[in-house]
Amino acid sequence: MKLEERTVAEYHGRPVKFFDLENGHGLRVRLMNYGATLISLHIPDRTGRLEDITLGFDSFEDYLGNNPYFGATVGRYANRIGGARFVLGGQEYLLARNEGPNHLHGGLKGFDKVMWEAGPVSDSRSVGVRFNYLSPDGDEGYPGNLDCQVTYLLNENDELHLAYLATTDRPTHVNLSHHSYFNLAGSRKDNILEHELQIMASRFTPADERLIPTGEIKEVAGTPLDFLKPRSIGQRLKELPAGYDHNFILDSRGELALAARVVEPESGRVMELYTTEPGLQFYSGNFLDGTIRGKGGRPYGRHSAFCLEPQHFPDSPNKPQFPSTVLKPGEIYKSLTVFKFLTV
Ligand code: GLA
Repeated sequence: MKLEERTVAEYHGRPVKFFDLENGHGLRVRLMNYGATLISLHIPDRTGRLEDITLGFDSFEDYLGNNPYFGATVGRYANRIGGARFVLGGQEYLLARNEGPNHLHGGLKGFDKVMWEAGPVSDSRSVGVRFNYLSPDGDEGYPGNLDCQVTYLLNENDELHLAYLATTDRPTHVNLSHHSYFNLAGSRKDNILEHELQIMASRFTPADERLIPTGEIKEVAGTPLDFLKPRSIGQRLKELPAGYDHNFILDSRGELALAARVVEPESGRVMELYTTEPGLQFYSGNFLDGTIRGKGGRPYGRHSAFCLEPQHFPDSPNKPQFPSTVLKPGEIYKSLTVFKFLTV
């Protein structure tokens, strides 16, 4: 197991650091303290050829420009809060509006755009980085000083663990997630339509045209959202003009369980996602339109990658029937997501 750390730039007087992790099988992960971001992830195909399977940029500076959350840690609230407001303890809180009238991924300066404290962590079978960030009371409109910790750990079972902890000094809402864009074909293909996807979810939360849940819960059966049996992402994509951007209600119940499995048939790369979260946003890279040039100058077009974001349901602060995202003083917010890599 290897861990290397280097300073690549300065941002508001603080060192921007890249952390390179490597396990005994050659899997490599690059992380950065800006946004507690995953920059790259090299995994082998069935012949052992290592390739980066995530979208992003080569240099830190590019992350400051047009960047749709590539590899970022999203918070305080991943996904949307309708009307950018909620009422908690009888008081109304107005949040930053950064998507029309709504609040998306923590606001104008969410956790993806702040500098985290960072330090290496390791044990006999894993290496990683622990990131800490203290979000001040009133940050983007949220109440309470929120003390957050995200730990990435790469182990010898070819798993990348993402463990989240948070505490607060006033009641608030928290919903942290990870926003990597994956293309398991690496550089071989510029779209993910042939990836075979399985999502362990029988139900989803229907949403309006601005992607705010209506509050209903529906079965995926008979819809293009039925991924209970593996099938290609492209198979029924045409039935959804806006593409996939939906919150799936996972069938698991709070314990760490398999939420999704993705197979890229040509390379043989497989990614399994396990999470303790109740929901999973599956996004098929619909807003990518080729204007962003990423690693190696490559233009990122529509459907060039997919995101699977483990999280609580969108707009939970305004939907009392959804699992609660309230965190109170004295409680500990805890969440765990595991990406496991293998080949077939
Ligand atoms: C999430 C959202 C999408 C989009 C992307 C970022 O996946 O659900 O609608 O906002 O983030 O572009």
